[in-house]
Amino acid sequence: MTVTDPQYDEAVTRLEKDFDIPTESLNIILEEFIREFDKGLGTHGHSVPMIPTYIYRLPTGKEKGTYLAIDLGGTNLRVCRVDLLGNHKFEIHQEKYMISEELKLARAMDLFDYIAGCVSTFISSNCSDGHPQGQGGWKIGFTFSFPVEYVSRECGIGCWKIRFHETISHDVPYPMLTFVHISPKDNFTLTTAPSSVGPRASTVPTPSAKTSLSFFRMPLTNVNATVVAIINDTTGALVATNYTDADANVGLIFGTGTNAAYVEELGAMHKCLKEEEANTIKEKLKKHGHRAKMVVNTEWGALDNDDVVLPRTKYDHTLDADSVHPRTQAFEKMISGMYLGEIARLALVDLMNQGILFADVEEGEDERRRRREFWDREYEAWLTANMSAVESDTTPNLTHTEHILMTPFTQPSTLRDRQLIQRVCQLVGRRAATLSALGVAAIVRKRNLIEGHKTCHVAVDGTLVNKYPYFKERMQETLCKIFGEEEAKRIVFVHAEDGSGVGAALVAMLASQEMHLEE
Ligand code: GLC
Repeated sequence: MTVTDPQYDEAVTRLEKDFDIPTESLNIILEEFIREFDKGLGTHGHSVPMIPTYIYRLPTGKEKGTYLAIDLGGTNLRVCRVDLLGNHKFEIHQEKYMISEELKLARAMDLFDYIAGCVSTFISSNCSDGHPQGQGGWKIGFTFSFPVEYVSRECGIGCWKIRFHETISHDVPYPMLTFVHISPKDNFTLTTAPSSVGPRASTVPTPSAKTSLSFFRMPLTNVNATVVAIINDTTGALVATNYTDADANVGLIFGTGTNAAYVEELGAMHKCLKEEEANTIKEKLKKHGHRAKMVVNTEWGALDNDDVVLPRTKYDHTLDADSVHPRTQAFEKMISGMYLGEIARLALVDLMNQGILFADVEEGEDERRRRREFWDREYEAWLTANMSAVESDTTPNLTHTEHILMTPFTQPSTLRDRQLIQRVCQLVGRRAATLSALGVAAIVRKRNLIEGHKTCHVAVDGTLVNKYPYFKERMQETLCKIFGEEEAKRIVFVHAEDGSGVGAALVAMLASQEMHLEE
């Protein structure tokens, strides 16, 4: 079977239209995002969580001292020692520890016992030259790159999505969300709940009065250290970058997941602070020469969960319906590394089923069936990393792409197939960058960050933005369309400092200073 040129062109044009976000829609989407942010900040909340961090100020860059960080990711545990040198500089020493498969599924107490053991080992080999100040030993900031809901100054409720399962196969009985209840009184207690409960259970207690930073003390058993703060990776990216670059007031992650943190006016935080509370905090910090604001962890992956404004393709709908948590993280599912490869795969399978892709490959029935089965059934047969490699392929005959495609097969593809695959990757990748820029633009406009002649430095990190070709350039193009070239230039993407390490240690420092103010 051969595909005629008009059939091929028609299929490409249709895909281009499906994945396009027209210039005239940009402002409409942007305004809707701002509305969602505002609703999320409102007393009743909304699908975009807009989580208050109770971090009321950013570091000055002049702080000195040694603080520790624990970075709990999906596969590794990292423990860091951060020496703040003043003058906006720091030094970091770190060790990585494996989290075994057993531990991932173990009771939280076992996991946290293991973490405490790693911290103890780390301190013995990395901190013998210093003495921790104040009560409770070394002060630790804990990065938990999953939504954490803080409900009072001593208590956070988080959920640890065991992503690992999400990535293996659809067949693994996706277990549950793991709710970790963190409080100094109870240490960690764990309940598991079926996924239908959702990450932000409605049983979250009403916040109690907060007149201070919402940090807490959790001594680690038998270790001369205390966890004094829990942060999200975006908050870390923002705080760490701001230590070295005072213009940085937005922190973004574009990796397996996507999220943003930014600095909000205290007056806008009525969902967690009464007016008198906000005033007391403002007064207190003013006495020490600081202007009180609050870092907000937006959890923007949930934008457009209600399907109001984003133009979704049939592939997005399929991906969502087959996902572990349908109708959640709508924005994230169109942007982040965890999903892009799958969107592209669904589009490619569709092209194959229409007889457009691999139609001209000369192969026997068996081979053809194997190819079809591979693309059709193998979940994650096509990863975001493959897209990245295909998009980077500038060889005239797309030979690199051919290498990637040939790995599981013996029959080569045609140049036209490879061009089509590259086009699909470009469309999915470009749309992700456009949407990401829209999220950034919404924060910039909401907070007037480039008003007058102000410059806004946006701290970004994550594999997508660091490794995916043209991601930043495409974001910048969209920002130009929205703000005009001159204004868009004042939104500068800077590579975030190590948020989960340095950022967590810095927040531990802020927490310790706050405790000191209170004592
Ligand atoms: C996911 C998590 C969020 C995290 C982001 C980036 O969206 O929900 O907390 O910040 O991934 O890692």
